[in-house]
Amino acid sequence: MSEHVFRHDVLILGSGAAGLSLALRLRDDLSVAVISKRELREGSTLYAQGGISAVLDAKDSIESHVQDTLTAGAGLCDRDAVQFIVERGPDNIRWLLDQGVAFTRNAEYTSAGGYHLTREGGHTHRRIVHAADATGHAVETTLETQVRARANISLYEQHIAVDLITSRHHRNDRQESRCLGAYLLNRDSGRVETFLARFVVLATGGANKVYLYTSNPDVSTGDGIAMAWRAGCRVANMEFMQFHPTCLYHPEARSFLITEALRGEGARLLLPDGERFMPRFDARAELAPRDIVARAIDHEMKRLGAECVYLDISHRPADFIIEHFPTIHKRCLELGIDITREPIPVVPAAHYTCGGVMVDRTARTDLAGLYASGEIAYTGLHGANRMASNSLLECLVYSESAAQDIERRMAQSVAPPDVPDWDESRVTEPDEEVVVTHNWDELRRFMWDYVGIVRTNKRLRRAKRRADLLAQEVIEYYSHFRVSNDLIELRNLLEVADLIIQSALRRRESRGLHYTLDFPDQDATQRTPTILIPDSYQPRHE
Ligand code: FAD
Ligand code: SIN
Repeated sequence: MSEHVFRHDVLILGSGAAGLSLALRLRDDLSVAVISKRELREGSTLYAQGGISAVLDAKDSIESHVQDTLTAGAGLCDRDAVQFIVERGPDNIRWLLDQGVAFTRNAEYTSAGGYHLTREGGHTHRRIVHAADATGHAVETTLETQVRARANISLYEQHIAVDLITSRHHRNDRQESRCLGAYLLNRDSGRVETFLARFVVLATGGANKVYLYTSNPDVSTGDGIAMAWRAGCRVANMEFMQFHPTCLYHPEARSFLITEALRGEGARLLLPDGERFMPRFDARAELAPRDIVARAIDHEMKRLGAECVYLDISHRPADFIIEHFPTIHKRCLELGIDITREPIPVVPAAHYTCGGVMVDRTARTDLAGLYASGEIAYTGLHGANRMASNSLLECLVYSESAAQDIERRMAQSVAPPDVPDWDESRVTEPDEEVVVTHNWDELRRFMWDYVGIVRTNKRLRRAKRRADLLAQEVIEYYSHFRVSNDLIELRNLLEVADLIIQSALRRRESRGLHYTLDFPDQDATQRTPTILIPDSYQPRHE
């Protein structure tokens, strides 16, 4: 066997909450590989602030959490999926506590086992467990410690998946296609290596880097969605890209979020002249679901020609603010903003991919042997707009479910056959890297301008023409030159941009996060998910 071929029972692409929790849920006699395209902890999970929603308070109920999620989802959630996830919330929080995650405690919250619960938009109860304002850091670093201690888990950092390997690539018969593994570019050596496994899991997160302004880290380039699509999996609801209403607006702060929990604890949104404006848009004011708040801010900024609006919590006691929001307080202070005394300049930014690769309750995709969990997946939970803090919960629940299914099927599984190495015989070193950087910038800018918070058919069609042109150029470049990290990501972002635009053009109404001036109203006859089917799709038999 070549030194560039690696075999494992389970190959997990991605090391955020979805990937790491799945690895830890699997039996320790299985050989598991976890792949990360940068260092292990880098990904959206690390930066999560507000917390994780779950029914922990005796005064709250599963039914209420389900109902709030359905309301936020604007009629498009799959009720059974919502129920499935919400019911498993409390057990998954206990699992995180068992791993050692130190959630914030507060003796007054006796009905919630002594854990402090905060509130965010759309939630009618306090039900968000958190570690101050750095919940993701606590979750990710705790799970990282655990996986590093497990002998059966091999960690491959600085490896970026290029494409999935399927049996269809290597056979011409008409048998059902199966996922056999993935080709990964080792970013240190520059070689493309072959990883084979009985089961493969995509846990590669969202695609929010497709927009110019985003709360997400650089790794969120939709690689998994693009790879699954190319391998024949259906994707759903890609038009519902969520914009977080409040990212810090400051020339030196890139992608820094100001958590919705600030509004949960009383912060108010203000115009530059100090007027509070959210009550004019929704009776729930600052705690309306995110689509409504982001759209209201966008509207006011455009109306006034303002560069930002302001979020003010300075009316709460300084020690309360510092205790609950130490990370935000510190970061803003470094930039000269004292949040205990003055309002914070904020703008909306792309934050979360509500759609994704279609999965069933066991996280199986359309391709045999391939699972998807986390932000990459479309489970039916979020509908047309994700409710705050439901995402980490979804990662945990679907990874648990996938782990159980993989273990059930392990005994009957077959080891994948040998496959050809990655073929680089016909490519050369890239001659003009500028094609990649230029196209990357252009893509993110036209997605922001034409496929953002407020859309029109004209803008969408304009975006489609540009995306098609760039895709043509990049495909040509891809087939002639050696792959690089940036080229892989750009190719995937273009694929995902196309899926977003196609889905947005299909939805001829405004619902949740998809708002278009051409069809400003909701249309009850369009209360169905937007499902895109690739040419290579085959219904699964197993
Ligand atoms: P990620 O955590 O993004 O991990 C993706 C992993 O995949 C990374 O390890 C990455 O390196 C790897 N990867 C990607 N592509 C490849 C490739 N081609 N090859 C190899 N590896 C690859 N949600 C909540 O519920 N509560 C919150 O409070 C909250 N706050 C948030 C705050 C911020 C600033 C952000 C950005 C998001 C927040 N979210 C929150 C959303 C939530 O954090 C994410 O949806 C969730 O963490 C996604 O987890 P994941 O495991 O699916 O992906
Ligand atoms: C936040 O803390 O505002 C982010 C919460 C989320 O995206 O779920």
